[in-house]
Amino acid sequence: MPPIFFITGTGTGVGKTVLTALLASHLRQRGISVAVLKPVASGSRADARMLYTALAGALTLDEINPWHFRAPLAPLLAARRERKSVTKAAVLGHIRRMQQRFAVVLVEGAGGLLSPLGEDFNSRDLIAALRAAPVIVGPNRIGVLNQMLLTLGALPRAAAARARVVLMSPPRPDAATKTNGALLAEFFDQERIFELPWLGRRWRTDWALADARVQRTLQKLTKVRPG
Ligand SMILES: Nc1ncnc2c1ncn2[C@@H]1O[C@H](COP(=O)(O)OP(=O)(O)OP(=O)(O)O)[C@@H](O)[C@H]1O
Ligand SMILES: [Mg+2]
Repeated sequence: MPPIFFITGTGTGVGKTVLTALLASHLRQRGISVAVLKPVASGSRADARMLYTALAGALTLDEINPWHFRAPLAPLLAARRERKSVTKAAVLGHIRRMQQRFAVVLVEGAGGLLSPLGEDFNSRDLIAALRAAPVIVGPNRIGVLNQMLLTLGALPRAAAARARVVLMSPPRPDAATKTNGALLAEFFDQERIFELPWLGRRWRTDWALADARVQRTLQKLTKVRPG
């Protein structure tokens, strides 16, 4: 079965969409057919639009983001405001249909691992049901170690064994930014720890991908081990 990478994070606003868009563009550059989904979104639809741009029209906005609710709240609450609900079965069905059509599927969650997406599920439930490889994004500053370990600890064992973590550099590094990666490696497989630089306020995927280190990071991150 084509691999599914599920991009989650230590919270909201940590760089999940930035990473997902970079991964999509990187895979496309390598000639790999890729689907990118933000199945459930609340508030603005900016994430889905950014992913739509990264896919250059391979999927429609509604295929990328079938469930959208207007209130800038957790999707579960935003849906209730509109007297609607999303079920895990419907979301899984949509992702699995994409898995039939593409060589790789990227799914961006909403919020963090346990943020409720619908009445009966969160990102962790989707990762487990899909046997997806979780990619946990966190801001590379003081405190991220605890957030990363909490998130990894909340994953089922099999999912944690497939997990990757990404430390996303903030615009201004703090005292911990340089050392977080090495410290995390004392607790988690070093091979699956990745760091991405701050790309600037007006970053663009094509500029970011022109950086050979960024390319190498994305390539290693999407390597799937047999078995
Ligand atoms: N490495 C980076 N370089 C430049 N800008 C970044 C980087 N990482 C994150 N940002 C910026 O930080 C903000 C939050 O990032 P992003 O939207 O990717 O977070 P998110 O985790 O997807 O948030 P949400 O929970 O809303 O989906 C955006 O304005 C984004 O452009
Ligand atoms: Mg996002």
